[in-house]
Amino acid sequence: MTRFTLKALPYPADALSPVMSARTVQIHHGKHQAAYASKLESLTENSEHRHYDLDHLIIRTYNSRRERAIFNNASQLRNHEFFWESLTPNTVVDPPRPIAERLVQSFGSLQEFREEFVRKAVNQFGSGWAWLVISPSGAWRIDTTHDADNPVLWGGFPLFVCDLWEHAYYLDWQQDRAGFVRAVVERLINWERVSLRLSQFQSRHAA
Ligand SMILES: [Fe+2]
Repeated sequence: MTRFTLKALPYPADALSPVMSARTVQIHHGKHQAAYASKLESLTENSEHRHYDLDHLIIRTYNSRRERAIFNNASQLRNHEFFWESLTPNTVVDPPRPIAERLVQSFGSLQEFREEFVRKAVNQFGSGWAWLVISPSGAWRIDTTHDADNPVLWGGFPLFVCDLWEHAYYLDWQQDRAGFVRAVVERLINWERVSLRLSQFQSRHAA
């Protein structure tokens, strides 16, 4: 039985256009993400890894050299699921008040939050991800990670992510990573989803 599968997109492939064209999304989801799912499926065949969900599998395999390929594919699959959920075509430019207040408190203003997100994303050398994350101390930060890494590996709680691999933007933006990330943070953030993540964080810490 198949254990690790490609989750369907939460919207049609052309819904994020023009920031991400239908062709970009189809290749990104249907080829890149699909490859992570099928590779992970074959790497974990008949192994105990199939008892774990992606979040646990990532943490279990991160420090193992021998299981590096499993980690990479599991984490990339998880990061992509989180990425699509982080975005929405139903553009609501500004976040709801509780989120806006935390962003202003943490970054000075909404505009500063966006600027810092773009700055850090551009400064991330090579492939990776840019995250809005609640750190283990409870602070809201923008972190970038290399390759397949995810802030859960060091106790962070992600609220939002933007893919910085070239396959996310090269067809539509060529080398202009800054333009792509700016368009994402100005037009595509799923604030409803960020609010939901914040409630999950709060209920986890209230328990
Ligand atoms: Fe990607």
